[in-house]
Amino acid sequence: MPNHADHSNYSAGLSKSEVLESVLLSYEALSSDTSNWVANLANCSSLVWHAYHSLGIKVNWAGFYVLNKEVEGELILGPFHGKVACQTIKIGKGVCGAAAQTKETQLVANVHEFPGHIACDGDTNSEIVVPLVKDNVTFGVLDIDCLELNGFDATDREYLEKLAQLIIHSCTW
Ligand code: SME
Repeated sequence: MPNHADHSNYSAGLSKSEVLESVLLSYEALSSDTSNWVANLANCSSLVWHAYHSLGIKVNWAGFYVLNKEVEGELILGPFHGKVACQTIKIGKGVCGAAAQTKETQLVANVHEFPGHIACDGDTNSEIVVPLVKDNVTFGVLDIDCLELNGFDATDREYLEKLAQLIIHSCTW
């Protein structure tokens, strides 16, 4: 890869698995330069955003909420790609809060049917949230929103959970 930005370029015609595998490889390469969580999560948001857009999947938000060290029981907005979003989310509230609390991926086919879903953007219809967990502690969540219903499936879950593992082991929090 001659330039950093080339990591955001995905060839046309690749399958979802191929594109998401490429996200993992790019994330590993980029995070080998630094363990700073802001830098790594910022570039990761870009990788994920461009990956889904290359597949024609209408992702309208891709980014992170991290544990707020100043307010117990709260997540705070981290690096992201997309429109302005809610700044804080209580652990246990919404899809992000549920992922943080249960430490399990939330794959939501229709956000309007998820009790307590927090609508940062009324145009969102589906969502996947993967917790970032190390030593049984949630450090944050990866949140991806889609304009379509059923925007994500088991393949997304599989690769994004692998990405979460790479993130949690590459960052100093
Ligand atoms: N929908 C999320 C809130 C975050 S935004 O989607 C960026 C939730 O219910 O937790």
